[in-house]
Amino acid sequence: MATIALDHVRKRYPNGPEAVRDFTFNIGDGEFVVLVGPSGCGKSTTLRLVAGLEDLTGGTIRIGDRIVNDVHPKDRDIAMVFQNYALYPHMSVRENMSFALKLRGVAKDQIKSRVLKAAQSLGIEDLLDRKPRQLSGGQRQRVAVGRAIVREPKAFLFDEPLSNLDAKLRVTTRAELKALHQRLRTTTIYVTHDQEEAMTLGDRIVVMADAVIQQAGPPLEVYRHPVNRFVASFIGMPPMNLIEGTLAREGDTTWFVEGPAGANGTPSRLAFPAARSPALAGAIGATVVLGLRPQMLRPAGVESTTTTIRVPISVVEPLGDLIDIFGSTPGRSRLVARLNAADSTAALRPGGEVLLDADMARAHVFEPGPFGKSIG
Ligand SMILES: Nc1ncnc2c1ncn2[C@@H]1O[C@H](COP(=O)(O)OP(=O)(O)OP(=O)(O)O)[C@@H](O)[C@H]1O
Ligand SMILES: [Mg+2]
Repeated sequence: MATIALDHVRKRYPNGPEAVRDFTFNIGDGEFVVLVGPSGCGKSTTLRLVAGLEDLTGGTIRIGDRIVNDVHPKDRDIAMVFQNYALYPHMSVRENMSFALKLRGVAKDQIKSRVLKAAQSLGIEDLLDRKPRQLSGGQRQRVAVGRAIVREPKAFLFDEPLSNLDAKLRVTTRAELKALHQRLRTTTIYVTHDQEEAMTLGDRIVVMADAVIQQAGPPLEVYRHPVNRFVASFIGMPPMNLIEGTLAREGDTTWFVEGPAGANGTPSRLAFPAARSPALAGAIGATVVLGLRPQMLRPAGVESTTTTIRVPISVVEPLGDLIDIFGSTPGRSRLVARLNAADSTAALRPGGEVLLDADMARAHVFEPGPFGKSIG
């Protein structure tokens, strides 16, 4: 096992964009770190730089205490699993898993026991004599992981290894990968564009956008305290509601006043608990974006002047125990509320209206713009 340290790492492709800009991050020994972000943000490039499949434009990468900038991929002692895991079709599962060890001249009985042990830990010991075409997608994926495990590398690098699987298999294989990491404790970097996969797998997650780290930390910390509007809306499902407006102060109370009134009513006015006033004081009068997670909205018993929003409903999506209500604020911002189905009433139907109570103690406030910083 090993630590992996990236220090001011940069990558510019020839005649191409700057794919990774000033990436500095240390991965602890045995840690599971997930790089997550939208398509094209530089996740795979970062991983390929660690693997040695791309040359650095700047900065240093250390594996353990060795600088590996100029070390050949095969001498970095790391194993990579890709989305297209390309098993050798003419080889059995056993041969696929043994191949890299054979090339390295590992003794036959050693290979046999390592392959068997890896196969057992992945629940594929009954499949060792089959050819890849005789396997399901999920089984093939496990063989690809097995092929990486038998090498007993210092670190695993995964690039979207589950994205070819159907939704259900993704969830079960994800849990298996997590259990596997808990057993092996091998340092792992895992790339995905799926925020749920990132949240559930990572000891820490690194949210990237536009070639830059936006925020890194334990998943729940990032979820609860997003540093900017991008992270806030990328992490969490359904995405956070973002409503433009201004902050106003009346007595001890700070109000969020929604932007220009729409045709369907006066804009919402929502009051923060007094305890939040000091932290928001610097932004009074300024244009801000209010962030309310769909889970921060509840059906209101009675209309209040301080925390309720009247929402005309456009779409209702039942999810079983939960129900998503899509509508808009009086100022015409789109709004999604995730409610308990138990709270659902006959009035929750398209064309109807719902009175929602916003949890203003937990509401986020951001500066304007797509990467607007979190305030207070
Ligand atoms: N070989 C290459 N030559 C030139 N540009 C490249 C090359 N590979 C990637 N890029 C560019 O670098 C940027 C980052 O690409 P990268 O593959 O790292 O993104 P990603 O975050 O993995 O995206 P995805 O989620 O779509 O896999 C993109 O703008 C991409 O077009
Ligand atoms: Mg990629």
